[in-house]
Amino acid sequence: MSYAKVLCVGLVGVTGHLVEVEADLAPGLPAVVLSGLPDTALNEARDRVRAAIVNSGQHWPNRRITVNLLPATLPKHGSGFDLAIAAALLGGSGELPLAPLEDVVILGELGLDGTVRPIRGVLPMVAAAARAGISRVVVPVGNAAEAAVVPGVRVRAVDNLHRLVAYVRDGSALLEPPPRQAAPPVQGPDLSEVAGQGLGRRAIEVAAAGGHHLLLLGPPGAGKTMLAERLPSILPELDDDTALEVTALHSIAGILPPGGELVRRPPFQAPHHTATVPAIVGGGSGLARPGAVSLAHRGILFLDEAAEFQSRALDALRQPLEHGRVLINRANGGTEYPARVQLVLASNPCPCAKPAGDTHCECTPLARRRYLSRISGPLLDRIDVQVELSPLRAAELMDTGESNESSAEVAVRVAAARAVATARWAKLGWKVNADVPGPYLRQARWRLPAATTYGLRRRLDQGTLSARGFDRIVRMAWTISDLDGRDRPDADDVDEATHLRTREAS
Ligand SMILES: Nc1ncnc2c1ncn2[C@@H]1O[C@H](COP(=O)(O)OP(=O)(O)OP(=O)(O)O)[C@@H](O)[C@H]1O
Ligand SMILES: [Mg+2]
Ligand SMILES: [Zn+2]
Repeated sequence: MSYAKVLCVGLVGVTGHLVEVEADLAPGLPAVVLSGLPDTALNEARDRVRAAIVNSGQHWPNRRITVNLLPATLPKHGSGFDLAIAAALLGGSGELPLAPLEDVVILGELGLDGTVRPIRGVLPMVAAAARAGISRVVVPVGNAAEAAVVPGVRVRAVDNLHRLVAYVRDGSALLEPPPRQAAPPVQGPDLSEVAGQGLGRRAIEVAAAGGHHLLLLGPPGAGKTMLAERLPSILPELDDDTALEVTALHSIAGILPPGGELVRRPPFQAPHHTATVPAIVGGGSGLARPGAVSLAHRGILFLDEAAEFQSRALDALRQPLEHGRVLINRANGGTEYPARVQLVLASNPCPCAKPAGDTHCECTPLARRRYLSRISGPLLDRIDVQVELSPLRAAELMDTGESNESSAEVAVRVAAARAVATARWAKLGWKVNADVPGPYLRQARWRLPAATTYGLRRRLDQGTLSARGFDRIVRMAWTISDLDGRDRPDADDVDEATHLRTREAS
């Protein structure tokens, strides 16, 4: 036999597509030709596969070998095709009867010595195989736990090429995925550790309940970072579909913890202010690495010391904030990854960053404005909740903490408020109040009575509030009324919402 075919999966963004790897061996000058839009890494596959076959004690056919990856139009990245190419080659040369690999998807990168190395993105690849009706996959042993997360697929693993050859030739056993370990519940940071800061606590509760982006301003040591890090602890768990989506992204990034569990908690990503644009939006050669904005998909993207970020990095967030997806442009074509995040910014209100309690800040109002203008425009514009925290007073810090509400207690209110909002907007396809466009809330069906918005309308007339600011305050008022169990906001809710926008942007 001089022709063989093996199944593999290629990723486009987070979506896997079945790929057929064909090998044809013809008489002629010994050579290996790879076709089907391979990128550089795939060309390198040729050399790795040859070394791995020879070093596994198999015969390397000295013939003209054509390896073709179908469909040709599908862009293919990365090294995950190695093992399938090796199997197709050995099948085509007649070394291996490939019947046992029929309808089996084979994934893995080969080392020169024949070792099968783990690859990124196994979870979405196996999920795609399952969707295509494939019920058996062979994956690198390092990815077996992750592959086993996908229901309805029998996962077997290999540590080297020899094991796959022995399985096909003699029916010897492949490796089983490790038994699923129930991950010990991680005790993350908890709100009970935050003393005082009533405004800050309320701000993150409202942000969590309404899905609002959040800006925390305040002097050093006020607890901005502390509060932001605790926002995930009051958010609901991810549902099945969302968990799969998030876990797929983390799989592509190669950051899944061992154990093979879906990511169930909303992720939290806090890139440093020196982070480059690719670190934030994604990039790199081969299979593009998701950036912080995709790793934070369905969770929190926290930019601490936001005003210190490169403006290019902040600008790069515009598109994902608007569309919930990020397009990574690269020389060999773009890749799109989901990137629906809740943004949290923290910053000192001025460049001098005097310690908490120091009243000697000499920054002029102009200097303060200029400092914050670095995050203004594209980002600040989308942030509903904007509060300035006061320095923590000694009495608050000395508080033993017993009186502080815990994350679990707050999470109950957040979940209830979210359920109400989701039900209210269900027909319109919005999930949280932050999804609702401002003008929509001014339509007759949802407009609040004149008495409720009296103060806001006066400020609008006086020119101290913009139309956009008005919409944002009303939107937050809906979240506050959801949290407090009213069916629509009253004047107090509007007042509190105004208070959660102490930094009034026009
Ligand atoms: N509200 C608080 N309750 C308890 N501890 C606090 C509080 N605020 C600050 N702290 C203590 O101060 C430390 C610094 O807080 P945090 O890093 O959150 O401040 P920050 O506002 O982010 O300051 P910076 O502007 O310097 O980043 C915390 O690790 C904690 O020990
Ligand atoms: Mg901080
Ligand atoms: Zn200052």
